[in-house]
Amino acid sequence: PANPGAAPPWLPFSRVTQEDLAFFRTLLPGRTITDPDLLKSSNVDWLKTVEGNNEVLLRPKTTEEVSQILRSRNLEVCPHRGNTGLVGGSVPVFDEIILSTSLMNQVITFDNISGILTCQAGCVLKNLSNYLEERDFIIPLDLGVKGSCHIGGNVSTNAGGLRLGQFWVLADGWILNCLATLRKDNTGYDLKQLFIEGTLGVITAVSILCPRKLKAVNVVFLDEMTRCSSFQQLLETFQCCRGMLGEVLSAFEFLDASCCMSLLEKHLKLTNPITSLLQTTGSNTTRDEEKLHNFLEEVMTSSLVTDGTVATEATKIKALWSLRERVTEALTHEGYTYKYDISLSVEKIYDLVGGYGHVGDGNLHLNIPSPFNDPALLAAIEPYVYEWTSEWKGSISAEHGLGLKMRNYIYYSKPSEAIALMGSIKAMLDPKGILNPYKTLPDNIH
Ligand code: FAD
Ligand code: MLT
Ligand code: ZN
Repeated sequence: PANPGAAPPWLPFSRVTQEDLAFFRTLLPGRTITDPDLLKSSNVDWLKTVEGNNEVLLRPKTTEEVSQILRSRNLEVCPHRGNTGLVGGSVPVFDEIILSTSLMNQVITFDNISGILTCQAGCVLKNLSNYLEERDFIIPLDLGVKGSCHIGGNVSTNAGGLRLGQFWVLADGWILNCLATLRKDNTGYDLKQLFIEGTLGVITAVSILCPRKLKAVNVVFLDEMTRCSSFQQLLETFQCCRGMLGEVLSAFEFLDASCCMSLLEKHLKLTNPITSLLQTTGSNTTRDEEKLHNFLEEVMTSSLVTDGTVATEATKIKALWSLRERVTEALTHEGYTYKYDISLSVEKIYDLVGGYGHVGDGNLHLNIPSPFNDPALLAAIEPYVYEWTSEWKGSISAEHGLGLKMRNYIYYSKPSEAIALMGSIKAMLDPKGILNPYKTLPDNIH
């Protein structure tokens, strides 16, 4: 495993005993997994760069069962289940028990007046999206990996910032119901923002405010022929786009032509890859299309792009998005990838080096592939990338979190006082440090 650093002072944790197993098997009959073959995939992360030695995987179905597991003894727990996280947060470092929410996959309620969905934490994002689309709503989050990730994992990594409320089980088994079914509720501290990466509690259910599905979805894309010839031109295109499409603009993504496009062709045999993609989502098809055409005319007249293609058909739009979303997968064929997920002010974003990312959010994914994990290459990249990002007041983890891999770099983005406060919160809510140990907080904070 990636080096977990110095052992925190609360070690050693209890080891799972035969009595524990007997207890789990009574509590979760047929759902206490100890077969090493079945455990293999849960011990390795999506990128296959972090591996644990867990010997027990528990699959509770209810909040009460999660509470009983945590209450049982001083056993470390690593909550997970989509296991698509990119910073090694979802796999055990040593032999922590894996607490999987995959059987907690029920929609609890959906209110089609307020648009508030309440569901268990193990619902697969794509299933929720299908459920809502049938009711003319959408889930306010879309990830390339939506067929695998779970809503509990999404809210734990704060993907999309979508949560309205949550149901938690704390380290001592205490159940806390903060599921919100109201859009507005300013009573006290906003606790839901704290429950990050399974380090303070296990999320068993979430409530989310879902917008209505809007009928007019259009995508404009630029390809090798029509792409902006410099990043500066792309930024000017983005600026113009915000000015002319502001209220309907729902995404603005870019891919570096020289690296991402060749990766898509080389590994996934995808032809005609794109270099940027912008999406509008609105309620009036004719008006939105007209706006898009005006925008294209403007950027072509200003010579920012030579052309651009508008796609309005759902299957074409899906295929275009898939090009952008499959870059991560294409990279896995290169060998080992050093992944960085930084946010910066958009003018600075490309100074570091190319990549792909969410320009609309000022978020660049810098990926440096190598045939193997090469310490010399790593030393050339780090800490340079972090120092540079910090110097330009960026964040060293824009959306993927800190997990195991990034926890010790938190100081590049947060002041020590804030990190010490995080440590105090952890100590208060999880005094034995059993919840996802070695994740999120740096080694010197316990
Ligand atoms: P896991 O990987 O299982 O877990 C992630 C973390 O949350 C771990 O620390 C885990 O312990 C914790 N956790 C999981 N479930 C719970 C729970 N019920 N209670 C408490 N803690 C829990 N991220 C983005 O933000 N934007 C993207 O566009 C994006 N695209 C991606 C594309 C690909 C191809 C891949 C592989 C990943 C992408 N990610 C993206 C990373 C993203 O964080 C995850 O994909 C997703 O949000 C994690 O969900 P998961 O169910 O897989 O969680
Ligand atoms: C993306 O934007 O494609 C995801 O965050 C995954 C990645 O960074 O590779
Ligand atoms: Zn991303």
